[in-house]
Amino acid sequence: MRLGLFCVRGCLSVLGRPAEPGTRGGGHIRAWFRATAGAAIVRDMFAAYAARTDADDPLSALELGELPEPQARPGWSVVTVRAATLNHHDLWSLRGVGLPAERLPMILGCDAAGVDEHGNEVVIHSVIGQSGHGVGPDEPRSLLTERYQGTFAQRVAVPTWNLLPKPAGLSFEQAACLPTAWLTAYRMLFTKAGVKPGDTVLVQGAGGGVATALVVLAKAAGLRVWVTGRNEAKRARAVELGADAAFESGARLPERVDAVMETVGAATWSHSVKALKPGGTIVISGATSGYHPPATELNRIFFLELNVLGSTMGTKDELAGLLSLCANTGVRPVIDSVLPLTEAREAFARLAKGDVFGKIVLTP
Ligand SMILES: NC(=O)c1ccc[n+]([C@@H]2O[C@H](COP(=O)([O-])OP(=O)(O)OC[C@H]3O[C@@H](n4cnc5c(N)ncnc54)[C@H](OP(=O)(O)O)[C@@H]3O)[C@@H](O)[C@H]2O)c1
Repeated sequence: MRLGLFCVRGCLSVLGRPAEPGTRGGGHIRAWFRATAGAAIVRDMFAAYAARTDADDPLSALELGELPEPQARPGWSVVTVRAATLNHHDLWSLRGVGLPAERLPMILGCDAAGVDEHGNEVVIHSVIGQSGHGVGPDEPRSLLTERYQGTFAQRVAVPTWNLLPKPAGLSFEQAACLPTAWLTAYRMLFTKAGVKPGDTVLVQGAGGGVATALVVLAKAAGLRVWVTGRNEAKRARAVELGADAAFESGARLPERVDAVMETVGAATWSHSVKALKPGGTIVISGATSGYHPPATELNRIFFLELNVLGSTMGTKDELAGLLSLCANTGVRPVIDSVLPLTEAREAFARLAKGDVFGKIVLTP
């Protein structure tokens, strides 16, 4: 970390790249630095960020280097990040999905656990309301990295309302897994799906961050859990996690299920619809393999009166419920690996290849 007189030229020379009006736009970068810094003197910090976006080669848009630290402002807290985790959302951001050019450079990272200015160990709820002070019902919301800088850095600023106490029994690495993938899984299962203990739920995609969370949470809630996965090793690990059975992607199931948890999208959509009992429910929160399934199965959806429910992230109350569930039951997030933030590029490459089981944690 470097303490110095902040100036645009100085900082860009640290980044090793001059401002490029017309490409990255020197004007808007200056505006961003002014808005971020406010005062003349700020510290720089190491960060992993989207310097540009590239729909075809997202890793080429990732930069690692120094950016200004966030500054305190009324109603917000600056959190020293102890652990953050990688989500597929970060790859979408590098592709430019939900991240227009005028918001670059954007520090990536949707979730984190760390220490606030008063020394409290906290978990960040990363859904930010319109005003930046909590999320009211039906209020437009954004995730960290969409409008506000993310957590792949030594410090991050968030509305103080968005902080929750980290349970003492969870490490920073474990707690950092919860606010995005695990919160999404919690809402899909416990708010949206309408399942009860004893029901059967199918989780598509054995190894994903959301998928592994779904397996663990569904098992903890007394559901029968079936998963699909593209390779034998991931299917076996899903069974070790608690899945009652694991099937190849697209395989015929022994019987139809009460609910399907869908994050894979186009590659598994048709199977998800066919796997449901009449009146069953698909909860969808992602479409990693694409938005356009070859068959939409509309006839099955109306004739069998299936429910298709969208789900995104979760509320602060749901995150509190998830933290409490972990603290009180011994449920712990599934961690693939813990890497220093300086190795973020390797972590992104593994996520892009699908070479992950659970969450990759990055520590600044
Ligand atoms: N709406 C929300 O709030 C929200 C929150 C979190 C995530 N998401 C979205 O949910 C999706 C999953 O996120 P994640 O962080 O869990 O990602 P991830 O860890 O990269 O997991 C990707 C999953 O997709 C599966 N997969 C990928 N391509 C596939 C294909 N062609 N055929 C079959 N399976 C395939 C993988 O299954 P295998 O195990 O078989 O490799 C894996 O389970 C992403 O699209 C993400 O943007 C949305």
